Amino acid sequence: MKAIIDAAQKGPRINRHVYGHFSEHLGRCVYHGGYWAGEDSPLPNIRGIRTDIVEAMKAIQVPSIRWPGGCFADDYHWMDGIGPRESRAPIVNVHWGGVLENNHFGTHEFMDLCEQVGCEPYICGNVGSGTVREMRDWIEYLSDGGQSPMARLRRQNGKDKAWDIRMFGVGNENWGCGGFMTAAQYAQEFRKYATYVRNYPDMGKANWWQTPGIMKIAGGTNTENTEWTETLMSSVPLRLLGGLSVHCYVKPGAESDGVRFSDDSWYQTAVNTYAKEAQFKRNIDIMDRYDPDQTVAMAVDEWGLWVDNEPGTAPGYLYQQNTMRSALCAALMLHTFHRYADRIRVANLAQTINVLQAILLTEGSRIVRTPTYHVFDLFKGHQDGDSLPVQWEKAPDTIEKGLPQVDLSSSISGEMLTISFVNLSAWQEANLRVELRGASPRGVSGRFISGEPTAHNTFDRPDRVAAAALRAISLQDSLLCACLPPCAIGAFEIRLG
Ligand code: AHR
Repeated sequence: MKAIIDAAQKGPRINRHVYGHFSEHLGRCVYHGGYWAGEDSPLPNIRGIRTDIVEAMKAIQVPSIRWPGGCFADDYHWMDGIGPRESRAPIVNVHWGGVLENNHFGTHEFMDLCEQVGCEPYICGNVGSGTVREMRDWIEYLSDGGQSPMARLRRQNGKDKAWDIRMFGVGNENWGCGGFMTAAQYAQEFRKYATYVRNYPDMGKANWWQTPGIMKIAGGTNTENTEWTETLMSSVPLRLLGGLSVHCYVKPGAESDGVRFSDDSWYQTAVNTYAKEAQFKRNIDIMDRYDPDQTVAMAVDEWGLWVDNEPGTAPGYLYQQNTMRSALCAALMLHTFHRYADRIRVANLAQTINVLQAILLTEGSRIVRTPTYHVFDLFKGHQDGDSLPVQWEKAPDTIEKGLPQVDLSSSISGEMLTISFVNLSAWQEANLRVELRGASPRGVSGRFISGEPTAHNTFDRPDRVAAAALRAISLQDSLLCACLPPCAIGAFEIRLG
C-alpha cells in the first residue's frame, strides 16, 4: 500500500478542542477515586485535587474538560457548590446511583483543576430544572471582572479575578434526561437562555452583545437524530448559536463484555465506528445549508465506546475496562474528526476517570493509563495542526468485514508533520509506504501501542499496553517506509527542514 501526503495542500485546522474530555459527577470520576481527594487526603494533592491525575492529563495536553454533566448538569444548582466547604449542603445524585455528594467539588474546585491541568473549562448549565436567572448568575459569577453582585460574591469566596470562559453548554440532552422536550420547545428555551449567557469581558464595548465571545453550545441529540439538528439550525439566530452538540456512543456489537470478546467484535467495533461518519455527515449537511460560513461548531461533546460495566460495579457507576478495542474506536473516531475539521471543532471523550471509556482508572493510590490514554498521547501532535489529505496511490488491502487494513490521518504544524495510523488487522503486519511531497523531511520517529484486541492494563500490570518506539521505519529522500505491527495504533513525527 502506498499513500501520498502533500505538505503544501493544507486543509482545515484540527481544533485542539476535539481532543477534549468529559467529566461528570458520575461514579468515581469526581469523588471516590476521581479528581477530588480533599485537602486532608493522604494522597498527594494540590488544594484537594489529585496530583497523579493532573500530571497524567498534562502529559497528553488535555485542551478542555466538559463538566459537571451529562444528565447531572440539568439537576445541578451551582450555588450549592460555592462558599466554605464545611457549610455546603450535601445533595443526592439522582441520576447516578442515588449517592450522597458533599458538594466539595464545585465551581472553584473545577476551575482550579483546569488551571492545574492547563486546559480550558467547558461548563454545562442547567436548563432542565434550572432557571434563566440561575444560568445568568453563574456566567456573571464566573466571568464578570466588574462590580456586579455575582462578581462581588465570587470575591467574597476568595477569587478576585474573573475566569476566562470560552465554552458554555446550554443544557444537556434536553430531549431526554434534561427535560424531555421536543426540538421546537428546546429551540425556544435555547433562544431565551442563551440571551442571558452574557459575554462579560466585552460588555460596554460597541455592540458588545453581538461579539462572538463565549461559544454558547446548544444541547443536541445522538448522531442518528437529524430532526433535532434541522429544527435548531432553522429556528435559532446564528449569532446566538456558537455550537451545536451531537452525542456519539459506539457499541461493540453482540459481544459487549469489557475484556472477553472474539476478534469479530474488534472488527465489528471498527465497522460501527466508521458507520458514525455517515451520521455526522448528515448532520453536517444540514448545518451547511443554514450556516454555509461554518460559524457554528459541531460539538461532539460526549463520545466513546460503551461496553458492559465491570463485574461488581455499583449501580449507576458505569465502571468499564478499556482494551485495544477501545483504543481502536478512539483512533478511528479522532481520524473522523480530522476529516471534518472545518465543522467538528469541539469533542469530549466520555468520561475521564473510572467511567465509560476512561483514560485513567484508579484504585486507592494506584492509577492506570488505559490504551485509550495512549491514543491521546500518540495523537497529540495533531492538536491545532493543519490537516493534510491522505491520497492512496495503492489502496490498503481489504480485510474482515470489508475494512481497509490501514487508516491514516495527517497534519502539519510548523516544522512537524504528524501521520497517525491504525493497523486494523488483528494478526497481520502491514507494509506501508508514504510519499511526502511539498516539504523536505529531515528525520522521522514513530511510536505505537499494540497487543491482541483484548489487551488491557490492570493495577497489577499497568504497562501491558504502553507506547514503544517503532523501529521498522526508514526515510529515504521523501519516501517513508514502515512495517506496522498487527493490531497497532501509533504516529510518525516527521521533522521538516
Ligand atoms: O455519559 C453518561 C450519560 O450519557 C450522560 O450523562 C448523558 O448525557 C448521556 O446519555
